Amino acid sequence: MSRPEHIAAPEIFYDETESRKYSSNSRIIEIQSVMAERAYELLAIPEDKTGLLLLDIGCGSGISGDVVTDHGHEWIGCDISKDMLDVSVEREVEGDVILRDMGQGLPFRPGSFDGAISISAVQWLCNAEKSHHNPRKRLQVFFQSLFSVLTRGGKAILQFYPENAAQIEMITSAAMRCGFTGGLLIDFPNSTKAKKYFLVLFTGANASMPQAKGVGGEIEEESGGVKYVNRKSEHRRGGKRGGLKVKTKEWIKGKKDRQRHQGKEVKADSVYTGRKRGPRF
Ligand SMILES: C[S@@+](CC[C@H](N)C(=O)[O-])C[C@H]1O[C@@H](n2cnc3c(N)ncnc32)[C@H](O)[C@@H]1O
Repeated sequence: MSRPEHIAAPEIFYDETESRKYSSNSRIIEIQSVMAERAYELLAIPEDKTGLLLLDIGCGSGISGDVVTDHGHEWIGCDISKDMLDVSVEREVEGDVILRDMGQGLPFRPGSFDGAISISAVQWLCNAEKSHHNPRKRLQVFFQSLFSVLTRGGKAILQFYPENAAQIEMITSAAMRCGFTGGLLIDFPNSTKAKKYFLVLFTGANASMPQAKGVGGEIEEESGGVKYVNRKSEHRRGGKRGGLKVKTKEWIKGKKDRQRHQGKEVKADSVYTGRKRGPRF
């Protein structure tokens, strides 16, 4: 199957039809949610810490951002596809989203974010979508701005799909040249289907790399997807709040009421509040 990056520029590939298809496909939702959970886990935020502000780069329709919300944090997402962002607004995601090409840098004040995640987006920067695009330069602009917008001590976990070893080197070395420490973590390195690449980036010097998963065979594979087992986050999804199914109309209204009580600005309820949007996990 062709890689989306070979078909068209992201803002063209993720048009209205593709964005809707992507965001209502239960298998895609599961895979993206699991990878976002793993990225969150790699951020290593203490269990009892909530209310941080995280950045979701290439946030799409907000599937990855939903995981940040479920862990009790605020998030801002950026994406180059207006149609993907339109779906995120329809889905009433909790984060704020902005239309932005990450290759032009992230337009936020220095030190704005406690951490960042990116799920299945950064590999797009390796392609020159326009004649004036220089992938190395765009990666440099992106990583320089990412380093700047994170707090000192902040982390970024970027899951990506490299096409080859040259892309891994191009992405990783661009990040390191911009001042990050950390490196590449590969979960399930021996499984064709489950292998996942995470760039683990620290703005500080003394952080130690987390452990990769899948070395001791702790894996269940399901129709090409990957399910991490014995995960704290799995427990959280299934246990603490009864999984992502918690977003019923009542749950959303209850949460909005709680936020109103806290004096937060909350969107008025509408006919779309808690509307059923196909299967969630
Ligand atoms: C596979 S989707 C993943 C979306 C979301 N992170 C998720 O997990 O569902 C990849 C996203 O990256 C976005 N993207 C690709 N290139 C980008 C760029 N240069 N700047 C911002 N977003 C980009 C695409 O528009 C698309 O929404």
